[in-house]
Formats: sequence, structure tokens, C-alpha cells
Amino acid sequence: MKEQIEAIQTEALAQISAAADERALDDARVAVLGKKGTLTLVAAGIKDVPKEDKAAVGQLLNAARTAITAALEDKQIALREVADRAALAGIDVTLPARQVHVGSLHPLTLIRDQAIGILRRMGFALADGPEIEDEFHCFDALNTPADHPARNEKDTFYFDSGKLLRTHTSSVQIRTMETQTPPIRIIAPGSAYRRDEIDATHLSVFNQLEGLYIGTDVSLPDLKGTLEYFLHELFGPSTEVRFRPHFFPFTEPSFEIDVKLTVKGQAPKWIEIAGCGMVDPAVFESINKSRKDNAFDPEKVTGFAFGMGLDRLAMIRWGIKDIRLLIENDARFLKQFA
Ligand code: DAH
Repeated sequence: MKEQIEAIQTEALAQISAAADERALDDARVAVLGKKGTLTLVAAGIKDVPKEDKAAVGQLLNAARTAITAALEDKQIALREVADRAALAGIDVTLPARQVHVGSLHPLTLIRDQAIGILRRMGFALADGPEIEDEFHCFDALNTPADHPARNEKDTFYFDSGKLLRTHTSSVQIRTMETQTPPIRIIAPGSAYRRDEIDATHLSVFNQLEGLYIGTDVSLPDLKGTLEYFLHELFGPSTEVRFRPHFFPFTEPSFEIDVKLTVKGQAPKWIEIAGCGMVDPAVFESINKSRKDNAFDPEKVTGFAFGMGLDRLAMIRWGIKDIRLLIENDARFLKQFA
């Protein structure tokens, strides 16, 4: 039996060392240690060994099993190492890692979301309206007479149907007042379209953020306080803001708002960012007429409105000199916002 065990061990170790891959190694393991393996079968015969020899044969069996198991483990490690090295052949593991490109939100999205965040904290809710509008919502209801230059074919994109691409988000004021009654506090960010000559500060599609606040006893100081607070939140508390008297058909009095822009190494400059004013009673009257009620009684309700240029806000915030960068989608420009 002793010889038999030794022969099995020698045979197994030879098979293990000859195994070319993990499958051959496993075959070798099963052949010797498996349920019907050579060593397993011999071990089963120990019951027939004379009592006085049992201990010695047992020891021999254990030693053979230990040696074979150790050889199997060593060979497995060696085979894995060979396989790993083969998998890496031709790959230079000392090369720098491939760069991971991180995406980012577009600057217009960033500024719009910040603006919305501030105004929502102040109690404004989001409102919406169509970009393809009619003359009533874009002009007539906003007290803009038929001969006003903004309604010119030269300035506005008209469809054959007579509809148009809204020239400002102020049409959402009308859409909102048609379906809601005071008090109203809404903001409406969105695109507007004009047939402008395209240059560093003009595009034919741009972005505005409209606001409308209607209640009783709403006054000019409310307008001023709200917008000053908003701009200080957006651009920082030391930002200088100025209200310049202006004219808009749908507000009276009306103002343009300028923000003082200070760029290092340049003389400070006032930049116009918004129009605003107290809602003209004529707007309330035309709304009442189309609603067929007196929900916006000009004797009782007052309000203010504003319309900001979101592209302008982004340009001020990040010192962007050319508005066209905002629509070109040039990754070299956009990746600085990542
Ligand atoms: N709609 C005006 C424009 O596009 C901006 C504006 C001015 C909006 C005064 C307003 C406002 O709501 O009250 O130039």
C-alpha cells in the first residue's frame, strides 16, 4: 500500500506540474482527490489494513494529500500569473490614466435656475405661455398700438397665419391674468424672438424672465425693493443698481434697470438688464374686457411687472463679451462652467 500511495503522489504531482491551464489543473485534482480519485479510493481501503499498520498508512495518506493540495494551490497561482501577464501584453500600464470628462450645466441654465431660486423664495410661482403667440397676447392686450414699431414686419417674425414668434415674455402676463385672479405673483422664464441684426450683443432668439406682481396697494417702492433685493442676491450685496425712467406701453411709470459692471482693469460700466414698471390700468381694462368680468378693477388692484434679459445676466455674471458664445456650444467655452 505504501508503494501504491507513493506512486499516486508521484503521478499526481507530475500531472499537476504538466497542467497547461486551469482546466487541466482541475482535471488533475479530480483524478486524484475527487470522489472517485485515485487517492480517495486507496484511502477507502484503509479499513482492511492490519491494525498495527493503520497509523503509519494513515500518516502516509495525509502527507500525500497535503503535498498534492499544496502543489495544486501553487500551480493555480502560477497559472493565474501567466494569464494576467498575457492579458496585459501590449498594454503600457505606466501610461497616465484616460481623462474623465465631466459635463456641466449651460451658463444660461445656471443663471436661470439661480434667478428662479431667488424669486421663488420671495413667493413668486412659475408661469408659462406659448412661444408662438397671437397679436392680442403679445401686443394689443399689452396696450401696444397697431402702429407701434415693435409690431413691424421688420422687427417681428410673423407666420402666414398672422401668428408670430413672441417678441417678449410679457405675453405670459396676459395669459396668466386670463386664468388667475389677484393676488398674482408669477415669474415666466423663456425664449423671445426678434429680427435683430446678429452681433456681439444681439441674437434673433434670446431669453427673458418675466415677472408680474398684482394685489392691492402694490406700489413703486415694492417694485424697487423687490428688484434691488433680487439683484443683490444674484450679483452680491455691493452691486450698484439704478432705475432710469423709460417708456413701455404696458407700464406707467416705466423704468429701465442698469447694473454697474466692474471688470478688473476696465472702467466701470452701467449695463441695461431689464425693463419694469407699474402695470398700466389700460392693461387691466383690456384683460377685464376679454375675461368679461371686473377681476382686475383698476380702481382696486395695482401691480408691477418686469422683464429681464437672462443672456445679459449671464454675460454680466461671467464677463462674457460675445452673446454668440451662448449658442455656439463650443466645448472650449462651456467647459469652464464644469
Ligand atoms: N417686454 C419688455 C422688452 O422686451 C421688457 C419689459 C419692460 C417687461 C417693462 C416688463 C415691463 O414686464 O414691465 O423689452
